[in-house]
Amino acid sequence: MAQGASALLVAEGEGLAERLRRMVRETNIPCFAPVGADPEEGRDMLSGGAAGLQLRAPSLLREGVADFLAAFRKRLNETVGRPALEELVDRPAPELPRLRIRNLDIPYPVIQGGMGIGVSWERLAGNVAHCGCVGIVSAIGTGYRYPGMSSQAGGRPVHSENLNSTPALKQILRSALEIADGRGAVGVNILCAINDYERVVRDSVEAGAQLIISGAGLPLSLPEYVGDADVALVPIVSSARALKLICKTWQRKFGRLPDAVVLEGPESGGHQGFSLEQCGDPAFSLDALLPSVIEERNQWGTFPVIAAGGIWDRADIDRLMALGADGVQMATRFIGTFECDANVRFKEVILKADKDTITLHGSPVGMPARGVKTALHRRIAEGDAPRIRCISNCVAPCEHGKGAAKVGYCIADSLGDAWGGDTESGLFFTGSSGWKLNELVHVKDLIGEITQDFGLTRLSH
Ligand SMILES: Cc1cc2nc3c(=O)[nH]c(=O)nc-3n(C[C@H](O)[C@H](O)[C@H](O)COP(=O)(O)O)c2cc1C
Repeated sequence: MAQGASALLVAEGEGLAERLRRMVRETNIPCFAPVGADPEEGRDMLSGGAAGLQLRAPSLLREGVADFLAAFRKRLNETVGRPALEELVDRPAPELPRLRIRNLDIPYPVIQGGMGIGVSWERLAGNVAHCGCVGIVSAIGTGYRYPGMSSQAGGRPVHSENLNSTPALKQILRSALEIADGRGAVGVNILCAINDYERVVRDSVEAGAQLIISGAGLPLSLPEYVGDADVALVPIVSSARALKLICKTWQRKFGRLPDAVVLEGPESGGHQGFSLEQCGDPAFSLDALLPSVIEERNQWGTFPVIAAGGIWDRADIDRLMALGADGVQMATRFIGTFECDANVRFKEVILKADKDTITLHGSPVGMPARGVKTALHRRIAEGDAPRIRCISNCVAPCEHGKGAAKVGYCIADSLGDAWGGDTESGLFFTGSSGWKLNELVHVKDLIGEITQDFGLTRLSH
């Protein structure tokens, strides 16, 4: 039953106590059991032979269950033999502050980064928002989501107006807002590099996006396109200099400042705001860049600075908040959720990826992009890559296929194929921590884990 495992966790569900006893009888390794909010349940599991407990509710660690806690601690030390764990049990994580962006009051300071094509659409973004964070729909390639709403050729949306389809984006946003049901916030991510940026910004505003996050270029005209709509504007930058230029331009031309800014470091997934050399240079790490961006923000106002790129767990969040970040944007970890909108084969590629196969590649956008080395890269090297036809005419820097010819693949086609789960022609983006993903979880459990508030107690309804 154990097949070389060092410990086992009994699955939740019917007959838990009986299954635990059998597991303890039949194996000679520590068996852990999950418990909900009831200390009595925990006591039963420990008396049934559980070596330790997987606590699903932080309330079990609070006062009022002292005897239970003492038994739990004793058992942890006996079985796992690590006194450090005892200290952890005594030291609940400090509360995370709420995140305020413009007039949005978000229970947890976590933004799920936009992931195109199709990795973050209504299901992921809606559920993240429903759990009290910011869910971000990717505005690119929406024609793949609803092929019936746009003109297609050979299964591909024709031209940018069908690739980034107005009715499809509106439908996706409507669904995401419905799933969110008034909790958290739902926004869109729009790459500055797409050919019809202005139109997609206007579509997003009309569809009710609560915020717009925009990078892969400097969104210098973004305020003009939203006019006086009540939508928070959040540029993505990779340096204090970029933030300065945005603030200066927006203030001079539109009398407006960003409502928050995302600083994306070089461990992030997809396109980088750095050269290949900079990506490997510690001077350009997220932690190294953050203080200068905070200092620049301080010159202009008090809008939140959001750190992104390589953030994995609560320890990373605490470290960045201690450096002065007001929140974090995380993307790769959300690929490992049931709710992530990509095909399950997309998720499997990331779940199976190891450290060596996650690398930086050239992209038609003209920036290095991080993803998994898959069949597409082998096919490019062997001269057997899918033909570049530029059906969707997606990004301006590619100049209608010229950039694609240089790197050997079309970015819209390859990302669309990855979303659909085609492992032979797909391009699979991930952040550098993608190799750590090894299972799918529910968004609610992931957000519980990273906020250390498993009941998501801050949500009011
Ligand atoms: C699959 C994937 C697709 C992405 N697509 C976009 C995108 O379309 N636009 C964008 O601004 N950022 C994109 N990103 C970057 C994320 O929004 C995010 O800022 C970054 O990946 C954070 O780092 P992490 O993945 O290590 O958490 C993408 C990232 C991934 C993993």
